[in-house]
Amino acid sequence: MTLTKSPARAALAHQTVRPRRLRQSEALRRMVRETSLTPADFIYPLFIKPGRDIEQPIRSMPGQYQLSVDRSVAFAREAWELGVPSVILFGVPADKDATGSENYDADGIVPQAIRAIKDALPEMVVISDMCFCEYTDHGHCGIINIPNHQHFNPHLPEGYVLNDPTLDLLGLASVVHAEAGADVIAPSGMMDGMVGAIRSALDANGMDHVAIMSYAAKYASGFYGPFREAAESPPQFGDRNQYQMDPANRREALKEVALDVEQGADFLMVKPALPYLDILSDVRRQFNLPIAAYQVSGEYAMLHAAAMNGWIDLRRTALESLTSIKRAGADLILTYFAVDAAKWLQE
Ligand code: PBG
Repeated sequence: MTLTKSPARAALAHQTVRPRRLRQSEALRRMVRETSLTPADFIYPLFIKPGRDIEQPIRSMPGQYQLSVDRSVAFAREAWELGVPSVILFGVPADKDATGSENYDADGIVPQAIRAIKDALPEMVVISDMCFCEYTDHGHCGIINIPNHQHFNPHLPEGYVLNDPTLDLLGLASVVHAEAGADVIAPSGMMDGMVGAIRSALDANGMDHVAIMSYAAKYASGFYGPFREAAESPPQFGDRNQYQMDPANRREALKEVALDVEQGADFLMVKPALPYLDILSDVRRQFNLPIAAYQVSGEYAMLHAAAMNGWIDLRRTALESLTSIKRAGADLILTYFAVDAAKWLQE
């Protein structure tokens, strides 16, 4: 019996290019795979709080904890032993004030954790997130305009985050974290000039070997929701739209990144990751520095929430997301999945 061929099927009979040939087996697929993930791609975020032997679960981020310094060493060690080369530290201090003074206290919670992790794991790369929102009582990423205070500017509204006075404090705190042993300072507050200010403060204090990973294109994103619970850092009034980028803007990211490159950034970062793959791809094409992408708390929480409902497979979607972020141009990924993904990749 001969079937009458549709015109489309007839055309296919003459087709010599058949992409499916290279998808026939796992070995073939492995041979032509363009992107691969390894534990060396990951940077593991840890939240540090005062106390001893504390592993306090973060409700909106299953599997993530606020840790006391001693426990943070154990978490860092697990990551290191799985091949994850780096951690990034966030402080959850006991006390907050108007200028976030714990951030530039040599005995603050993050400097303590930096010292403990570097003591236990001297080769692990310790990155210190450099921002004031976890340390200020108002929850903003810098010092704010308050009548009668030292830096009051009558031409700006009350509560406005003051850029240049914040730069001085960022420089000071970066030197403190570098003296504690941080290998990399990662400014995340989106103040204009933050990279240059930190670079000159470090250099002036004998820290020209300490690198800067700039949160260069950081958007004002709803996906940071769970982090603000984890770091106890929601702004007490207003939002972050006057310093973080507008999610609608693509070209502006290249302007932000170019400024940080000029000011001496060693790594660039795009944040969040999955909803901003176009930005990642643009930055990859135009700049040659190593690029990190931050798969943020909301991205992590969404996958967990859907998986807990049985709607998606956690491992498969987590690895697919990480692969996509790398495919779009990231060299490194800050991810709460770091340890789980490193284990999955070993299996
Ligand atoms: C601090 C900072 C934030 C994140 C990293 N550093 C929060 C924010 O900007 O509000 C978010 C990370 C995450 O959501 O996982 N400025």
